[in-house]
Amino acid sequence: MKDDHIVFRGEVLDLLDQRLLPLEAKRLPCDNVESLIKAIKSMAVRGAPAIGVAAAYGCVLAAREAKDEADLERLLHDLENARPTAVNLSWAVRKMRALWQPGTPLEEAAQIFMAEAIAIHQADIEACRAIGRYGAELIDDGDCVLTHCNAGALATGGYGTALGVIRAAWEAGKKISVIADETRPLLQGARLTAWELRQLGIPVTIACDNACALVMGRGLAQKVVTGADRIAANGDTANKIGTCGVAILARHFDIPFYIAAPLSTIDPSLENGSQIPIESRQTDEVCVINGKRVAPEGVKALNFAFDVTPAALIAGIITERGVLRPPYGESISRIFKGVWK
Ligand code: MRU
Repeated sequence: MKDDHIVFRGEVLDLLDQRLLPLEAKRLPCDNVESLIKAIKSMAVRGAPAIGVAAAYGCVLAAREAKDEADLERLLHDLENARPTAVNLSWAVRKMRALWQPGTPLEEAAQIFMAEAIAIHQADIEACRAIGRYGAELIDDGDCVLTHCNAGALATGGYGTALGVIRAAWEAGKKISVIADETRPLLQGARLTAWELRQLGIPVTIACDNACALVMGRGLAQKVVTGADRIAANGDTANKIGTCGVAILARHFDIPFYIAAPLSTIDPSLENGSQIPIESRQTDEVCVINGKRVAPEGVKALNFAFDVTPAALIAGIITERGVLRPPYGESISRIFKGVWK
């Protein structure tokens, strides 16, 4: 599988438009910050680490197009706020800001940002591979792994987090299969996870989101692994809407539920999950299918893009430094102090 969904070529950040997959593999060139913000908001590029990487390259676009320092600051601020839940976005922009000294010529800032964006991109791919290696040890030969949303190469710099674990287990020779929740309303599971796994040759079956209880009750899944958009200091984890329900069911049916995420997804500044901002998206995503309204005209719809899984339901958080175990308050604080056992 080619990891070329985020490529900076010449003057342009060239993205694979994830809205059209799997039917069309069309590129979406972004040559200024406004077009990248649009791509992030409309989810042409999506997935927490992927929007972090795209935003890092977006800072290069910002430094190239800014008229002066105040303009650069405005562009960085707008970019950082394109979507609220995935912390990787603001993490990447904050990292760039820290490298920029007021008074540095913008041309020079663009060069500094480019070097850092490439480093962030590479580091994310390496983090995913390490997550895969640690996570693969938790998967047994013959397991069927259930996942929700898409935490594959497309959602990261490359290789994937939850799908990174599945890929690594498969590459290690374990005969596993995957159940991909379809993930309403934007179908990241049915469209993207199934597409990626098919390309990798890993057996995948799609299930409606609301089939999860039956699937688990029938013993069709032995492990659950999902990605994350933001993890609070106590281990509470925001991920795609529906994840918390999956975790509750997994606990009921005694199935281990794991989160796979790089350290850039942990936000130690937030004490717990109630402080994680939850994105609410336009209701048409729920009420309109293939351009056709399916709900009565005028009816309201809730379209929360994420929910928060309480730390108590998470068997382990698979990171590039190893598998964090409860109590997460302690294991997360240790890892941020650089101590890892
Ligand atoms: O709204 P999305 O598609 O950006 O949501 C993506 C998810 O919830 C993923 O599971 C998460 O970002 C982890 S991606 C490695």
